[in-house]
Amino acid sequence: CLWIRNLTHKKRLPGPFAWPLVGNAMQLGQMPHITFSKLAKKYGNVYQIRLGQNDIVVLNGDAAIREALIQHSKEFAGRPNFISFQLVSGGRSMTFSNYSEQWKVHRRVAQSTLRAFSSANSQTKKVFEQHVVAECMDMVQSFLRLSADRRYFNPSHEFTIAAANVLCALCFGKRYGHDDPEFRTLLGKVDKFGETVGAGSLVDVMPWLQSFPNPVRSVYQNFKDLNNEFFAFVKDKVVQHRNTYNPDVTRDMSDAIISVIEHGKNSMLTEDFVEGTVTDLIGAGQDTVSTVMQWILLLLVKYPDMQAELQQQIDKVVGCDRLPSMDDKADLAYLEAFIYETMRYTSFVPVTIPHSTTSDVTIEGLHIPKDMVVFINQWSVNHDPQKWQDPHIFNPSRFLDEKGALDKDLTNSVMIFSTGRRRCIGDQIAKTEIFLFLAILLHQCTFESNPSQPLTMDCSYGLALKPVNYTVTAKVRGKLLGLVS
Ligand code: HEM
Repeated sequence: CLWIRNLTHKKRLPGPFAWPLVGNAMQLGQMPHITFSKLAKKYGNVYQIRLGQNDIVVLNGDAAIREALIQHSKEFAGRPNFISFQLVSGGRSMTFSNYSEQWKVHRRVAQSTLRAFSSANSQTKKVFEQHVVAECMDMVQSFLRLSADRRYFNPSHEFTIAAANVLCALCFGKRYGHDDPEFRTLLGKVDKFGETVGAGSLVDVMPWLQSFPNPVRSVYQNFKDLNNEFFAFVKDKVVQHRNTYNPDVTRDMSDAIISVIEHGKNSMLTEDFVEGTVTDLIGAGQDTVSTVMQWILLLLVKYPDMQAELQQQIDKVVGCDRLPSMDDKADLAYLEAFIYETMRYTSFVPVTIPHSTTSDVTIEGLHIPKDMVVFINQWSVNHDPQKWQDPHIFNPSRFLDEKGALDKDLTNSVMIFSTGRRRCIGDQIAKTEIFLFLAILLHQCTFESNPSQPLTMDCSYGLALKPVNYTVTAKVRGKLLGLVS
């Protein structure tokens, strides 16, 4: 009867006591994903916390997360209606909009366009690969310039420019030099995007923080400004494309998206979704890839023996008369293992973008009502002791079998791109970029840490975990510089 239904409806999931006004906000600490994992030990893998006025379900561990995102993919495909989400990509973001028929169309357009320009057939694969190689060779030149006279440098800007350029080449047929001041300034600000939209950010759950001066308010103001600036940059390029659009010639991804949305049949999307889509793709594509490259380089200098072993393998497979290519991937299992272990160990997207439930649903026997905010703790999957031996140790060899071949079952168990209906649509592009960047960097250079700076794994929290400022120096190895520029 209704009375019993109401009773069961109101029953709280397990979870810590929530204080009035702030809920559990003060307990999250510097690294909320670690706190979430600790709370899971006490309350189980599915529990509830409160942040401000919002009740939030936190999912932890391989089994509960896969049950939710795969078996109940539709029920977990929503996004909360946070105020900050509406500021992204001119209010026309696919990534930050809730589950709906329109969202499905939008996601399909973005996904199929990405595929058409990166992996649809062997020709597009080759062209895409060439973009990435050219970007990487430009980056090698920059690194060596920055290392002149044995100087040490922080690589984060160069990685950001390289990753953003790969997307700009796809979307606009245009790239920017590493010294372009406007591009550097723009991307320097975008670096802060994840502070606001990462799970546990207080901007959305305590709107009253906007009413008086405090650090959260200035983070929010910066977020608004950086989104407006980034969107204006992209929109300007899209408008140029629109004004010179020719249905017979598809120059790049912007043209392809204009073609589907503005000239396709029965599109549910208005013209302004074009700039929204392009902004989403460039935004998502640069921060993530540049962050993982920063971690990779940090781990290479932390473990110089592994760096040397990787170089030995590359030299054996590739030699010194050509650059590494995607065709070498099958023969470079240790390199792949190093990449997967970096993704697992750092779990640098520790919690996905917040989800919300699209209807009532039950996970591990626990009832979760419609429209609940859901945090998905990817870090806990990658450090689940049921799945991983010594999860806190960095050991790429865990992904190799006795014959040195890559264990595909195990690599598939790493969760960094999420899974289910909200799974990242750029995973293939990202994997190609990471593989080529790393293989080429190691083929061309050796990296060393700065002896006057302690090497730590300390990082700042946000949608992506970013290593704190560290510096390295690069020494040239091969004779191939200038082959591609
Ligand atoms: C969403 C990870 C690179 C485009 C996501 C999500 C994660 C993620 C965790 C959220 C999934 C969820 O909420 O459940 C990564 C990582 C990357 C990467 C670790 C690099 C190593 C890229 C690239 C692109 C891209 C290169 C595009 C060129 C997107 C888009 C979404 C997304 C559009 C939103 C999907 C949706 O809401 O339906 N990514 N990503 N990502 N990613 Fe990526």
